[in-house]
Amino acid sequence: MTDGPRSGLYAVSTALLAMSRHLEVRDVLKTIVASARELLDAEYAALGVPDDHGGFAQFVVDGVSDEQWKAIGPLPRQHGILAAMLHEEHAERLADVRKDPRFGGWPSAHPDMSDFLGLPIRDGDETLGALFLANKNCPKPEGSCGFTAEDEELLGILAQHAAIALTNARLYERSRELTIAEERTRLAHELHDAVSQKLFSLRLTAQAAAKLIDRDPVRAKGELQQVAALAAEAADELRAAVTELRPAALDEDGLVATLRTHIQVLDRAHAPQVTFRCEGVRALPASQEEAMLRVAQEALHNALRHSGGAQVDVVLERHGQGAVLRITDDGQGFEPRETRRAGRHLGLVSMRDRASGVGGRLTVESAPGKGTTIEMEVPGG
Ligand SMILES: Nc1ncnc2c1ncn2[C@@H]1O[C@H](COP(=O)(O)OP(=O)(O)OP(=O)(O)O)[C@@H](O)[C@H]1O
Ligand SMILES: [Mg+2]
Repeated sequence: MTDGPRSGLYAVSTALLAMSRHLEVRDVLKTIVASARELLDAEYAALGVPDDHGGFAQFVVDGVSDEQWKAIGPLPRQHGILAAMLHEEHAERLADVRKDPRFGGWPSAHPDMSDFLGLPIRDGDETLGALFLANKNCPKPEGSCGFTAEDEELLGILAQHAAIALTNARLYERSRELTIAEERTRLAHELHDAVSQKLFSLRLTAQAAAKLIDRDPVRAKGELQQVAALAAEAADELRAAVTELRPAALDEDGLVATLRTHIQVLDRAHAPQVTFRCEGVRALPASQEEAMLRVAQEALHNALRHSGGAQVDVVLERHGQGAVLRITDDGQGFEPRETRRAGRHLGLVSMRDRASGVGGRLTVESAPGKGTTIEMEVPGG
């Protein structure tokens, strides 16, 4: 491999750079084994990442063709020399791996190997995996190991960098998983807060139209137009939720007008009287307006669906630089602490998240028989 110290250094540096360039764990592993095999001029190289069940979560090889690999059969288990490398701190250099007392044989299609160099990949006390090389490509005296002390040292350097590259790749994958989980939560909340409520109103309005159609076709027609409008809004909300757009109405009309229209629609579609009063509120930062709207929607939805009350009042007032929103119903109330633990209810959780997400505060005041008040405060800005 080397023509002198400089080109050797260059080869090592190339290998290390290639390792740290990849973000996916599997790509990092592949680069590590390929680099190790090339730098140490071996016929075979492998890298195993152990799992907690006595097997390998990943086992990557280089120097073995795909057909050969398939013929060998299932992934190895942690036994024999492979297992020993995972529990040792130091490299192991053997002239003939088959003669080692720990050697337990290999599957029939496994290539024959004699000289062997193995090393754990460690990060602090944790063993991330083990690197193995077999059959040095050079003439050597019978019965001696082709791998030298220098090879061992070089593999040691590779293993240290492999540990860093592997840890980084794992962190990257973990953070990507978290991002996906966050995105799923966002979408669930958005669908819950916006779309499912529009559909709820739509269902009630359609039922009202069905009841009216024989008795009062003109009013039924009005209700059906309302059905069409609600369906269009639900479709818009769905699109906005999926593409992460703000509700169009907020951009065009601002929070106050959007809330007023929303409340008028609810007042018409549902039996309880729903009122709106607004005092001295200035425009708020976009994210706060959106959070306010979503919380108002969910609180109204809960009041109409669960409270059984006859009256729901919404008040939006100026509060310092920001604003405070209050939704009060005169219904049966509930015990807020009891619902906090119930996993399948998204509404209250989502309201709290939305408030804290914009630096605001949410309070739920309710007791059985006493009605409910949801209050949200945002700082403005
Ligand atoms: N205004 C209210 N009046 C009476 N009970 C309420 C009121 N708001 C909420 N609750 C009670 O608190 C529970 C939790 O509300 P939450 O909004 O978290 O979930 P949900 O409305 O049941 O379901 P989801 O909102 O996920 O569709 C409700 O099931 C209901 O029992
Ligand atoms: Mg709810």
